[in-house]
Amino acid sequence: MTTLIFPTIQRSIKPGVIDLAWGQPDPNLLPVEEMKRAGERALNEYSWEMLDYGAEAGPGPLLDYLRERIERTEGRALRADQIIVTAGNSDALDQICTFRTQPGDTVLIEAPTYHLAVKILRDHLLDIVPVPTDEEGLRVNDLQAILAELKRVGKQPKFLYTIPTFHNPTGVCLSEGRRRGLVKVAAQENLLLVEDDVYRELAYDAPAPPSLWSIAPDGVVLRMGSFAKSFAPGVRLGFITGNKEFLLRMTGGGLRDSGGGVNHFTAMMLAAACRAGLYDSQIEKLRAAYRERRDALCEAIAQELPKTKFVKPGGGFFIWLQFPDSTDTQVLRGRAPEHGVDFVHGARFFGEGGGTNALRFAFSLYPPDELREAVKRLRNAL
Ligand SMILES: Cc1ncc(COP(=O)(O)O)c(C=O)c1O
Repeated sequence: MTTLIFPTIQRSIKPGVIDLAWGQPDPNLLPVEEMKRAGERALNEYSWEMLDYGAEAGPGPLLDYLRERIERTEGRALRADQIIVTAGNSDALDQICTFRTQPGDTVLIEAPTYHLAVKILRDHLLDIVPVPTDEEGLRVNDLQAILAELKRVGKQPKFLYTIPTFHNPTGVCLSEGRRRGLVKVAAQENLLLVEDDVYRELAYDAPAPPSLWSIAPDGVVLRMGSFAKSFAPGVRLGFITGNKEFLLRMTGGGLRDSGGGVNHFTAMMLAAACRAGLYDSQIEKLRAAYRERRDALCEAIAQELPKTKFVKPGGGFFIWLQFPDSTDTQVLRGRAPEHGVDFVHGARFFGEGGGTNALRFAFSLYPPDELREAVKRLRNAL
């Protein structure tokens, strides 16, 4: 028998540690049985077309499904040339950088923001300028001041990367007023908004607020959606809705011209699953499970860590916990694993200082009892 030396999945967790650092779905909630059925169904229905090179923009059955669903749920008409399939949001951001930027160009991010998106921007050798946020999300007034300052020194940012809905790491939603303000400023200043909308479907109390894409004039927003959190990360699929000309540049680029549409076989299987109603039922299942986890974690924090501050998120995977200024969460993290718990310390989400007294907990991976236990362990580590 062959000895297995290569890992199969990305996540690795130290034995005995409840690791709330991973913003990943619980493997017990992944749609294994659904995909077995979808695979058979897809091969019966689509046959060899599943195994051929796929259309550059993504396969018709998945695009038709997405287009109809987005129009219905977001209330904005979507033409066939305004959407393409991607290999998830990480791929989408990387590709947007490829087609939009050159090394040395300036891009804007939120502070704090998803640290691994910043890593992608760094891969493209971009000059990254942070914009402050608060409990209502991105501070649009500060954005205007930063844009004015950049203009003064002759710089026009290539885009702003933003997570307005169930933010990673803060869990915050950009307020309705600021959403409209941001879109207006972006249109006036000719600033492209790259909207990361990966958590839209995971709304626990009320429907998610409108996406920036759905309220903006054409050409202002490229919105990246993903199946990673709302279905399964291993399918490596997502989509972009946005401006036709830009999407045409992406689908006409060398990568897709040579290799066809991304992850074509899986995209066809996913299309079969979606069309059989399995995406909607999976979302319902995830919402119920994650809602319970969020509630359990929030209650445990309120009980065990009364000196901390946090905003209960309405969706997504994360709670952003703020300690008194004297607590350095990087130091705390150094000793947390020996107490059987782990997390991401706040400074990792800020490019240029900040967040030293904060941490991010992900509540997606563990059931309520283990989340409660994790908070007790953190209290002991403190
Ligand atoms: C804000 C945000 N964007 C993107 C991703 C990754 O998305 P995908 O798996 O679709 O590449 C994550 C995963 O943690 C995320 O939190």
